[in-house]
Amino acid sequence: MARLLLGVSGGIAAYKALELVRLATKAGHAVRVVQTPTAQQFVGAASFAALTGAPVLVSEFERDPARGAFPDQEPPSHDPASHLELVRNADAYLIAPATANTVAKLAHGMADNLLTSAALAAGCPVLVAPAMNHHMWEHPATQANLATLRERGVTVIDPGTGALATKHEWGVGRLAEPAELLAAVEAVVDWGPAHPRPWDGLKVLVTAGGTREPIDAVRYVGNRSSGRMGFAVADEAAALGAEVTVLAANVALPRHPRVRYRDVVTAAELRAACLEEFPACDVLVMAAAVADFRPAAPEAGKVKKAGRDAMVLELEATEDILSGLAAARRDGQTLVGFAAEHGAQAVDYGRDKLSRKGLDAVVVNDVSQPGIGFDTAENEVAILTAAGDEHVARATKAEVARAILATVDRLRGAQVTR
Ligand SMILES: Cc1cc2nc3c(=O)[nH]c(=O)nc-3n(C[C@H](O)[C@H](O)[C@H](O)COP(=O)(O)O)c2cc1C
Repeated sequence: MARLLLGVSGGIAAYKALELVRLATKAGHAVRVVQTPTAQQFVGAASFAALTGAPVLVSEFERDPARGAFPDQEPPSHDPASHLELVRNADAYLIAPATANTVAKLAHGMADNLLTSAALAAGCPVLVAPAMNHHMWEHPATQANLATLRERGVTVIDPGTGALATKHEWGVGRLAEPAELLAAVEAVVDWGPAHPRPWDGLKVLVTAGGTREPIDAVRYVGNRSSGRMGFAVADEAAALGAEVTVLAANVALPRHPRVRYRDVVTAAELRAACLEEFPACDVLVMAAAVADFRPAAPEAGKVKKAGRDAMVLELEATEDILSGLAAARRDGQTLVGFAAEHGAQAVDYGRDKLSRKGLDAVVVNDVSQPGIGFDTAENEVAILTAAGDEHVARATKAEVARAILATVDRLRGAQVTR
């Protein structure tokens, strides 16, 4: 896995950097943290040191007990300069949160503390995740500074829009979420032979989103699936090193730079794409919500309302994609289906699906519960396999995705390292 140097500057979002460190270390990365003196007003070094298992540095002049080494390295026999040694060892340097002040210093090549000196000395990819009040964000000086950094090849992870730290303030300036920051880091690291990952060489096919079946040229029969769960599975598989293809049915979500996406609209298009992609994959995760029925005779133009009191729509069954693929599977392929069911019978239905469709695992979510399942950020699932049921308590879709991939890993007889 990678060595991540994290620079924390003095903004209110510094607390989110703790969660980022937790995610990064859990994912198997070795992390070192440097802070600006102001950052220590917001979060103390002890928390970062405990989470990383390594000393935290603030000044170029303090002695680094680890001598610039990351937790997975032996310290050198000499005492190197920290601002040079940390970036020499790092695979990526992420500054998060980056204050307006630190962004300005970086843009002007200033090196007046350990964080900024290290940035100037960095040969590895540098990423900057700004977080600030929306007036500071929108100020032409900040925007010009960020444009300068982008021009120089720095990856700027744009802040989100929403409630800001100051009471009653809303706008752009929120630090990107920790999972997004980690994905951005993993996307820029040079994964050569020096950084083997658990799923290197594995081909993973994921379906995501919800199909739309045309009624006429403008209307369709659809469902509420946003694609979040499937995209989370794809992101996590990519982070493990897999070569991932997503068949995305009507998904309007950010896309992972290392994942290949093919867009489809209808169940028939999804089926055709699955049949093409399936033979080459090692792992199939069918997270898309596929229509069971489609309008039997969609109109070519737009159906007019004039003169009608009612309209009867005749539906016909779509082909069962997963059963078809399961019947054509070859040795070494692992198949995971999803069952979005309503109510107490959800797990019974999932178990029936597991055996009826010849799958290795079925992920069941009870979509009758508020706040989980379709078009939400969280999920709570049961993962059913021949070996038994695993209940994954309510968690982010990224965490649920990790649990699913850990099950796949167990099914394939290897150990996942995150
Ligand atoms: C309560 C509080 C919250 C702050 N939050 C932010 C912030 O989110 N973003 C920012 O750019 N500056 C913020 N500032 C201002 C910075 O702390 C200030 O510009 C400081 O000089 C930054 O130093 P550094 O970039 O060396 O860490 C905040 C200041 C205070 C007092």
